Parts: sequence; structure tokens; C-alpha cells
Amino acid sequence: MHAAPVSMGWRHALIVGGTGMLAGASRFIAARTQTTSLLARTQASLSSLRQSLPAHLDVATTAVDYRSAQAFSEAIRIRVEAAGAPDVVLAWIHAEHAAQALAAQLASYGSTLRFFHVLGSASASPAASLLRRRMHYDALPGLSYHQIVLGFICDERGSRWLCDDEIAQGTIQAVSAGAPKHVVGVVEPWEARP
Ligand SMILES: NC(=O)c1ccc[n+]([C@@H]2O[C@H](COP(=O)([O-])OP(=O)(O)OC[C@H]3O[C@@H](n4cnc5c(N)ncnc54)[C@H](OP(=O)(O)O)[C@@H]3O)[C@@H](O)[C@H]2O)c1
Repeated sequence: MHAAPVSMGWRHALIVGGTGMLAGASRFIAARTQTTSLLARTQASLSSLRQSLPAHLDVATTAVDYRSAQAFSEAIRIRVEAAGAPDVVLAWIHAEHAAQALAAQLASYGSTLRFFHVLGSASASPAASLLRRRMHYDALPGLSYHQIVLGFICDERGSRWLCDDEIAQGTIQAVSAGAPKHVVGVVEPWEARP
């Protein structure tokens, strides 16, 4: 699989679950985007991230639970109505059906977009299949799908999970490189995980 370097300078970025460990990556994207839509469950986390961004940036926050399918879809629709269909998405969503529904809804608007999907370590277990998982997304018209797999750090001292800064920096690298799959840290050997 080949990386297609991403030309920054987006029109509308939609970021779901970007207020925690991905806050640094959300700031990176917002700084390069005309309008950013931030969605997370609580207004507290959204306000905290908004306050860490330059005031002049056009950033809208929406508090919504992605497990409430109807409310989440409606929140997306409202943001698309306000700012147009997003051309870049960063999604950290623990419910796969919600991520799939989001991708399908966005693809239905008919424009092209890059969908960066952050996935926990379990996605890379031998029992899971990243290739099978991406089939739903790859079938959507106009949607370029990018998996960002969170791995672990393995060195002479042993292994440990990634810290928030490593996750955010790795995500920035993945978004910049635009490869179909980007592993932050390592996922092999799988037996060496913490
Ligand atoms: N491989 C690894 O090393 C690895 C992998 C994953 C996680 N971790 C670690 O685990 C820690 C905790 O992970 P985390 O998943 O809690 O990450 P997090 O990024 O700190 O928080 C989850 C993000 O998703 C939002 N969110 C959560 N549930 C939501 C819902 N139902 N609807 C809408 N938005 C929702 C949260 O906003 P609200 O707070 O407003 O709900 C927040 O923006 C991380 O800080 C990281 O260090 C490590």
C-alpha cells in the first residue's frame, strides 16, 4: 500500500473524540483548516480544547453521544448544513457501527473526503483483521480511508502502552503521510504487548 502525501489546507474538518489523547492532533488539523467541527460527548472536554486553540480559528463544538445513532447523525447533518461536507475526518470512536454509520453518511453527501480512523491496539491482534475491517469503508464512493493503529512501545526495558503525546504525534504523522494504514509504535510481536 502506498502513502499519498496529504496536501494540507482543508475546508472543513470534522473531528470526533478528539478532545482527549488526540487533542494535539485536533489542534494540528484545526490550524490548517478553514472550519473545524469538534464533536465529543461532554461540553467540558470540548470547551477545554476550544480554549487551547487560537481564538481567530473558526471552530464549532457539538456535545453529542455517538452511541445515540439518531442524535449523532442529526448533529453531523447540522454541521454539514452549516459548513458543507467535510473534506477531512478524524474519528476516535469506540463503537464500530457508529464509525461505519458516520462514514456512510458523509459519503452520501457526494463529495470526496479523507477519513482517518484511529483504532485501538486490539484491532491489530492476530484474531482481528484490519483488512476485513476496512472493506466497508473502501466500498464507499469518494471516501479515502486511512487506519491509524495505536500500538505499543517495545524497547530493551520491556514494553509499555503509548502516552497521549506519542498518540497525538503519531496521529499527526499519519494524517500528514496519508497512508492507507499507519501504526503508531509497534504491534509486533503481538506477544510482547504490555
Ligand atoms: N495503544 C495504546 O497505547 C492506547 C490505545 C488507546 C488508549 N490509550 C490510552 O488510554 C487513555 C484513555 O483512552 P480514551 O479512549 O478514554 O481516550 P481519550 O481520547 O482520552 O477520550 C475519548 C475521546 O472520545 C470522546 N468520547 C468518548 N465517548 C464518547 C461518546 N460516547 N460519544 C462522543 N464522544 C465520546 C471523549 O470526549 P468526552 O470526554 O467529552 O466524552 C474524548 O474526546 C488515553 O489517554 C491513552 O493514553 C492507549
